[in-house]
This record gives sequence, structure tokens and C-alpha cells, in this order.
Amino acid sequence: MDNISYSTYKNLIDNHILDFIPEIDHKSITVYESMKYSLTAGGKRIRPVLLLAACEFVGGNSADVKGAITYACALEYIHTYSLIHDDLPAMDDDELRRGVPTNHVVFGEAMAVLAGDGLLSTAFEAMNKDMLLYLDDPVKLKRRIRAIYEISKSAGCRGMIAGQVADIEAENKQCSKEMLDYIHLNKTAALIIGAVRAGAYLGGANEQQLRDLTGYAENLGLAFQIADDILDICGDEAEMGKKAHNDQKKNKSTYPCLYDLEDCKEYLSELTETAVSFLESYYDEAEFFTKLAEDMAVRVK
Ligand code: IPE
Ligand code: IPE
Ligand code: MG
Ligand code: MG
Ligand code: MG
Repeated sequence: MDNISYSTYKNLIDNHILDFIPEIDHKSITVYESMKYSLTAGGKRIRPVLLLAACEFVGGNSADVKGAITYACALEYIHTYSLIHDDLPAMDDDELRRGVPTNHVVFGEAMAVLAGDGLLSTAFEAMNKDMLLYLDDPVKLKRRIRAIYEISKSAGCRGMIAGQVADIEAENKQCSKEMLDYIHLNKTAALIIGAVRAGAYLGGANEQQLRDLTGYAENLGLAFQIADDILDICGDEAEMGKKAHNDQKKNKSTYPCLYDLEDCKEYLSELTETAVSFLESYYDEAEFFTKLAEDMAVRVK
């Protein structure tokens, strides 16, 4: 993998993010506007970037990476739907996301629910439509079937949804560390694991590469949510593009509820080191992933 920068992958995603949103009958144009609003509001695109990077890291060529864009955008649709629903009054009740008013503030709650549903189903429509092009190419078809399975599993009731359920039920409660790890592993790490595994399959990964990338992503995913919880306390709203102190307002169970901030930061560093250690044997080849993990940890320093 040649020294590709984060922004190279991110630009690819930003340039294609609306490509798979179907032309919509003018009678239902509002849901299109609502989906487009949240998709183009910004966002770090970390999950789709990880998907494309994993595809290339395991040996995928430029055609494989190009082919993976559909899956990367679909994953970003799923993540964006999860944010729209997460912000609803019935969930975290947030007013600001990606630096702009949340979807329901602009379009109303009913349309925000539908935009989320629309994004989720469009993600699977796009991936399945792509698969239809490979019915006569068993190798590429098999890789795509595996990628869809990884993405659907990580987004579903054994992944992100499970974590969101536990997160909601843990409000106003004192959580154990074990329970918090469960919440973080599912609500956040799952989609990050799904991203690298889907990308790895699309690039034709071997078993060892899959295991190493999975170990990296599990730890990165946990670190990512701890960073998010710390930033909720001491982050800059303009930089985050969302309101701070919402976890406290909603009495969420987070790491800073269990441990003091310095211990949380220490845990974040440990997880970052562990993430990086999974890719140690690849030396410079894994530089992209090492840098991404370290940059993320630095965000909260
Ligand atoms: C926010 O995800 C939700 C969490 C899992 C913490 P991101 O921090 O990736 O949000 P965007 O996509 O950049 O807006
Ligand atoms: C959200 O976690 C995880 C999702 C699945 C959307 P948070 O509720 O902590 O994310 P933010 O802080 O609202 O971005
Ligand atoms: Mg939440
Ligand atoms: Mg939230
Ligand atoms: Mg948060």
C-alpha cells in the first residue's frame, strides 16, 4: 500500500456519496431531501475510509478498490441512518449534528424516521444491485456476498442495534465495566469491525489478514467510543459539530461515569496501542492504520 492519505479515500467517498440514492418520484421528494441533507452535511467518513483502506491493504488492486466504493458508501448510509435515529427526541434528543441542526429539527420527526429507514434500505439495494453485475464471476460474487454479510451483521441485532438498545437501557443506571464494554463494542466498534472485514473480503484477504484487521478494529472501535465520551465532557463543540455535555444531561452510562478522566485517557492509549500491535508484523505496510489510530487518540489530548 503506497502512502495513501486519509483525505484521498475520504474524497472518493465524498464524490460518490449520492451516487446510489435512487431517483425518487417527486411526490416523495421530501425523503430524498432529508437523506441528502444528512449525507452531505459532513462527517469524518471513518468507516468507509477504513473499508477502502482494508481492501487495498490486503492486496486489492485499483479495480477492487473502485468496486468497493458502493459498499463503502452503503456503510456510510447505514452509519448516517444510525445518527439520524440516535438524535431523535425518543433517543438522545440532540439538536446539532455534523455542524448543522439535526435531521428531525429541520424535517420533523416523522420524516427523520423515514429518512433513516430510507438510508438503511437503500444501502442494501445498492449492494445487491452491484452483486447482480457479478453473477457470472464466482470469485468476485463470493467476495461481495461475504462483504454484505459482514455489513449486515455489524449493523443488526448482533451489532450496532444491540449496542443502542443496551445504551438506552443503561440510562440512569450505574453500569459495570463489563456492561460498558458490551455497549461500546456493539453500538460503535461493530460497524468499524464490519468496515474492515467487508473491505478485506472485497480485496481478497487471507485468514491471517482478516484476523489481524479484526483485532485492530475491535480495539480501535472501543477507543473511538471512549474518545467520543471524553469529548462529550471536554471537547470543542465547533470542532465536533455536535453539542457537548449531552451524555450528562441524558444520564448516559459512559467511561467517564466510572473512572476519572485521566484513567479514561490512559485506557484510550492502551486500546490504541493494542489496536496497532495487531498490525505490527506488517511494518510500514500498515502505516495508514497505525496513523489513523494514533491521530484519533490525539484528538482528545
Ligand atoms: C458518531 O460517529 C457516533 C459514534 C459512534 C461516536 P462519528 O464520530 O464517526 O460521526 P461522523 O460520521 O464523523 O459525523
Ligand atoms: C452513538 O453513540 C452510536 C450510534 C450507533 C449512532 P453516541 O450517542 O455517543 O453518539 P453521538 O455522541 O450522539 O455522536
Ligand atoms: Mg446514543
Ligand atoms: Mg447520541
Ligand atoms: Mg457520544
